[in-house]
Amino acid sequence: MTLSNSTILVTGGASGIGFALAQQLLQRGNRVIVCGRGAESLARAQAIEPALVTRICDVTDAESRRALIDWIAAEHPDLSVVFNNAGVQYRRSFAGDHALDDLEQEVAVNFTAPVQLIGEILPLLRRQKQAVIVNVTSGLAFAPMADVPVYCAAKAALHSFTLTLRHQLRHTAVKVVEMVPPIVDTGLGGNTRSDGTKNAGMMSPDAFATEALALLEEGHDEVLVGLSVGTRQHGEKLFQRMNGS
Ligand SMILES: NC(=O)c1ccc[n+]([C@@H]2O[C@H](COP(=O)([O-])OP(=O)(O)OC[C@H]3O[C@@H](n4cnc5c(N)ncnc54)[C@H](OP(=O)(O)O)[C@@H]3O)[C@@H](O)[C@H]2O)c1
Repeated sequence: MTLSNSTILVTGGASGIGFALAQQLLQRGNRVIVCGRGAESLARAQAIEPALVTRICDVTDAESRRALIDWIAAEHPDLSVVFNNAGVQYRRSFAGDHALDDLEQEVAVNFTAPVQLIGEILPLLRRQKQAVIVNVTSGLAFAPMADVPVYCAAKAALHSFTLTLRHQLRHTAVKVVEMVPPIVDTGLGGNTRSDGTKNAGMMSPDAFATEALALLEEGHDEVLVGLSVGTRQHGEKLFQRMNGS
């Protein structure tokens, strides 16, 4: 698969992994649309990459998604690649208080919204000669981290959905890919990862995007990068090692 001369949507593409993907997709000669909730972060992204097309959209909001899709259908009807990249991650403890704070939002951004967006945008994708849906899950979909339990469960659900979606669309021109980042140095989870004690396996968003796009172009159904190769392979067997006793 060659990722050039295409029109591509990256949800959550104004920061972190999504922005690094968007930058490298622009360098390959694509038109790249990024969306997110925050006007300021979209403006910051566009100041760095003036060629970026930006659009405010809360992917968990049905009206906001509808407006995005209608606008794409009118202004960019050749859209053929969608990265479901927007994500949030919250720490929560069922041994303590507030275990359910923002539960619906965490499940919605990481699981329900990508499913809804796919269902709503498929009619447009199916009009293209070839199209690609890339669902960004996580190495934690396979081996969960105990302090972010709902995040891991939602990513596991998105992994499962991606398998069945790929199967259902196997006779169509829509390819379904799962992109599985390892721990990457972004603001996810309120910047808890950027605390100066760099995890040994932590990648920069740029390094991740470089490897991930190369694997995507090689045609892999599952784009496994860095430590995600191990979590995909060994899954829950890694649980004790990752979480201690
Ligand atoms: N960083 C890691 O270690 C890691 C590891 C595995 C998987 N991932 C996955 O990689 C993806 C990108 O995360 P990241 O690490 O790059 O984090 P990030 O820098 O926090 O980026 C997340 C993006 O999602 C957007 N977003 C959040 N809620 C949204 C909503 N309701 N509607 C639209 N956009 C929304 C945010 O923009 P606004 O807040 O402006 O809306 C932000 O641009 C996520 O799916 C994450 O789960 C990350």
